[in-house]
Amino acid sequence: KRPAGAPDPDDGRDVNKVGVVGAGLMASQLALLFASRLEVPVVLTDLDQERVDKGVAYVNAEIDKLVAKNKMMPGKAAKLRGLVSGSVTKEAFADADLVIEAVFENLAVKKQVFAEVEAVVSESCVLATNTSSLSITEMAADLKHPERVVGLHFFNPVAAMPLLEIVRAEKTDEESLATAFAVGKALRKSSVLVADRPAFVVNRLLTRFLGEILGAVEEGTDFTVADQAVDSLGMPMRPLTLVGLVGPAVALHVAETLHEAFPDRFAVSQKLGKLVEAGLTSFHTADGALDPRVVEIYGPR
Ligand code: 3HC
Repeated sequence: KRPAGAPDPDDGRDVNKVGVVGAGLMASQLALLFASRLEVPVVLTDLDQERVDKGVAYVNAEIDKLVAKNKMMPGKAAKLRGLVSGSVTKEAFADADLVIEAVFENLAVKKQVFAEVEAVVSESCVLATNTSSLSITEMAADLKHPERVVGLHFFNPVAAMPLLEIVRAEKTDEESLATAFAVGKALRKSSVLVADRPAFVVNRLLTRFLGEILGAVEEGTDFTVADQAVDSLGMPMRPLTLVGLVGPAVALHVAETLHEAFPDRFAVSQKLGKLVEAGLTSFHTADGALDPRVVEIYGPR
């Protein structure tokens, strides 16, 4: 069934090659998903060879895991490995039909990335962004063809989360939007059409939810108690674990964007800011214990 207000995916352009800007965790997960479900070549780019190699290595390691768990046949794995490549230059996108960016959450950086991509791609290439909360209309504003820009907002872990928010920016045309829905369908995601408003739909809810729990912890609730209490409500993941999955820096960035847009409704947690400043990527250590630096920042219970 077609989502409310969505165009017919059959009106979209064919996608025979995908470019991914960024080779970080989100970008690498996207490369794997696109190659696996669309079965087309996917090229990852980043600032230097080391980052590119790391992204491609992540994809290959995930493929190995799927084969080891008998979730993928060795033949499909070999084909997939051949489909995913890396490059340090965006010229590799010259014949791409869709380029998605998943770089650092900074509007100026994303605008620069889109300008560089537009300089090398064909006129018909759709440009997508996986931004969590930034304005896609602003991101497209200085391009020659802002009508080709659309939001494709995925959720972590990309392979497991069914939801895809498809964002229509002010100038997005019907064909680009239809292409986005066709891609969502081919990726076997549940696509929903959302407006280009700060943090779209789901991150507004999640930021409020996680913000309140972090607030309770800042006010003295024990870390484990806060996690367990919500776990017992039947949530799929404990909230502090979820902050680690999303990444504290991303969670903070979304909260800041929402605070700017709706200051009376969204607070920015100072302690979360300290956690990010200290370079922590999770509340927990690799073995699942609370990271002692978290207690230093939040104070003892
Ligand atoms: N990569 C690939 N697949 C994964 C995975 C990963 N990292 N983690 C789990 N999976 C798959 C498993 O392989 C399994 O697949 P199967 O059914 O085919 O065997 C399936 O997901 C379920 O996994 P498990 O049974 O091992 O574990 P759970 O039942 O605990 O589910 C979870 C794991 C799906 C991650 C679940 O805990 C969950 O839904 N957590 C909430 C995640 C969430 O809210 N994400 C949104 C974050 S917000 C965001 O990303 C937006 C950004 O803009 C900030």
